[in-house]
Amino acid sequence: MRIVKTVAELRSIISEQRRAGKRIGLVPTMGALHPGHMSLVPVVREHSDFVVLWIFVNPTQFNSKQDLDSYPRELESDCRKAGQAGVDLVFAPEADEIYPEGLDSGYQRCSVAAGGYSRGLCGATRPGHFDGVVSVVTIFFNIVQPDAAVFGEKDYQQLKVIQQLVHDLHMPIKIVAAPLVRETDGLALSSRNQLLSSEDRERGLSISHSLFEAKRLVAAGEPDAAVIRSMVSEQLEAAGLKVDYVEIVDTETLVPLRSIESTGQLVVAAFAGAVRLIDNIRLEK
Ligand code: PAF
Repeated sequence: MRIVKTVAELRSIISEQRRAGKRIGLVPTMGALHPGHMSLVPVVREHSDFVVLWIFVNPTQFNSKQDLDSYPRELESDCRKAGQAGVDLVFAPEADEIYPEGLDSGYQRCSVAAGGYSRGLCGATRPGHFDGVVSVVTIFFNIVQPDAAVFGEKDYQQLKVIQQLVHDLHMPIKIVAAPLVRETDGLALSSRNQLLSSEDRERGLSISHSLFEAKRLVAAGEPDAAVIRSMVSEQLEAAGLKVDYVEIVDTETLVPLRSIESTGQLVVAAFAGAVRLIDNIRLEK
């Protein structure tokens, strides 16, 4: 497996692979890789022959310097894990490779504005976050020019925002969705989990437990979104979490639902101490 840090070297390797008739697959990540990330590799491999794993903690999508600074960075062990997962190349650029003019220089960069799927949910409580995401993902796509790129359903809204980006800007890239991966006790895998104290981790478990209960209630016939939302919020608050949002939305359009006629996506964000956790589950009547 190759580890590359410059755009020029990456481009030359990708051109070689293309000349050899290989389809390129991209796994965009911010590193601190866990089994959820690793599960993305075989998913994109089904649509490609040469898999590039991108590791870049993108400063423009963070809302606070403290959140950016505390984001875990573990390049050495990430590269080991990527090799074990069968990745062909890790691209791990420094910030000035991606943003050569710097981020605090007053330089006015071109950027991409996220579309309507970015409104509400994380878009409402993290202003500018999805603009940062779609801008950097556009940069990834322009540099790698992948045939396929994989995004996890853990970041459900992000997946929809990226699908909209590719659709609206006519990017010839197949976006592949990969299922959310949980710890055996239910906690959704996230690089942020390692920032949790053991008490906050315990509190955080109430998220998946309340989502599973919501799924059971809807399957047993409860159609009222308000009833489900209150049950989830109450459980999270009782566990000591600070709720950011609890919503049930249309699985495709992300429009909030008042009742669950066939399916809905229950999406949750809550703080365990200073750590913001997100999770979601498909509800089916
Ligand atoms: O999901 C993430 O880790 C990031 O938002 C992404 C897509 C790699 C963009 O920085």
